[in-house]
Amino acid sequence: MPKWNASSLPSFAGRTVVVTGGTSGIGLVAARELARAGARTVFTARDEEKGARVAATIDGDVEVRPLDLADLASVRAFAAAWEGDIDVLVNNAGVMMPPLGRTTDGFELQVGTNHLGHFALTNLLLDHVTDRVVTVASNAHKGGHIDFADLNWESRSYSPTKAYYQSKLANLLFTLELERRLRAGGSPVRAVAAHPGYAATNLTASTTNPVMQIATKLGDRLIAQDDAAGALPTLFAAAAEIPGGSYVGPDGPGEWRGAPVLVGRTHRASDAETAKRLWALSEELTGVAAPASIPA
Ligand SMILES: NC(=O)c1ccc[n+]([C@@H]2O[C@H](COP(=O)([O-])OP(=O)(O)OC[C@H]3O[C@@H](n4cnc5c(N)ncnc54)[C@H](OP(=O)(O)O)[C@@H]3O)[C@@H](O)[C@H]2O)c1
Repeated sequence: MPKWNASSLPSFAGRTVVVTGGTSGIGLVAARELARAGARTVFTARDEEKGARVAATIDGDVEVRPLDLADLASVRAFAAAWEGDIDVLVNNAGVMMPPLGRTTDGFELQVGTNHLGHFALTNLLLDHVTDRVVTVASNAHKGGHIDFADLNWESRSYSPTKAYYQSKLANLLFTLELERRLRAGGSPVRAVAAHPGYAATNLTASTTNPVMQIATKLGDRLIAQDDAAGALPTLFAAAAEIPGGSYVGPDGPGEWRGAPVLVGRTHRASDAETAKRLWALSEELTGVAAPASIPA
């Protein structure tokens, strides 16, 4: 039997999906494949002109809407403008290892974009979601540690690598607590996560560390799979009959590449107390509370 691939996607006719960060890499492939499967596909772009150029390359029912996850006003505007059901919300957009930067609201750029922006977006949209929330994490969560005293790197010396690891661990802890709350609230919605292994995309472009630049250039050439293969775990997580809380990644050695399967996560990423604590801190920082449908 062939391994799961994009042609294994069931029909998405009559369903609506939202993919954050659809202008390149995994988000672009996911948007393209979901549209091909018949979904009404809304993907987000920071730059609407770039988004429109990309949308023109995708066949099917595709729409691009503006969203900057590094600006809570933009997140709120996107959510406020939304009407109707979202079958699947794919929290995909992300940045990796840029020099220290801050979001409009003063959060460290990586945790602000990758976690806090998606945290706010998901909670603001949750009452529209009917099937599932897919959040794209990473193998990098394995090196992650949540610093509750200084989530936003205000007093410690900045490490772009550790900040990325923290943000990707936060993606998994967010999924864990969201899934717990959905079950406790009796919701039909599930929260799942996926990671692409290693896929050659634009993600490595923002690092300015020369060692990392050489490593990613070599890695892109020698180890990485292409963006189409890297999107398969996300597509599987968006479509397959998997339990809430599942984490999907590639089946190859080290989960670097391969076909999508359910994978494990670190002990730290399964810690319910840390997940609850991060949720509370994320509510406090973003000013976005969970909807009444998923009480604490
Ligand atoms: N590639 C890998 O090997 C790998 C491995 C593990 C995890 N991941 C995860 O996969 C996800 C997708 O990454 P990718 O590899 O496809 O990288 P990519 O090609 O760089 O795509 C990232 C997307 O995120 C968008 N984005 C960046 N900052 C944003 C913001 N502030 N607001 C809204 N959108 C923003 C980008 O939009 P613009 O066009 O505006 O820049 C782009 O569409 C990320 O969450 C990443 O952490 C990737």
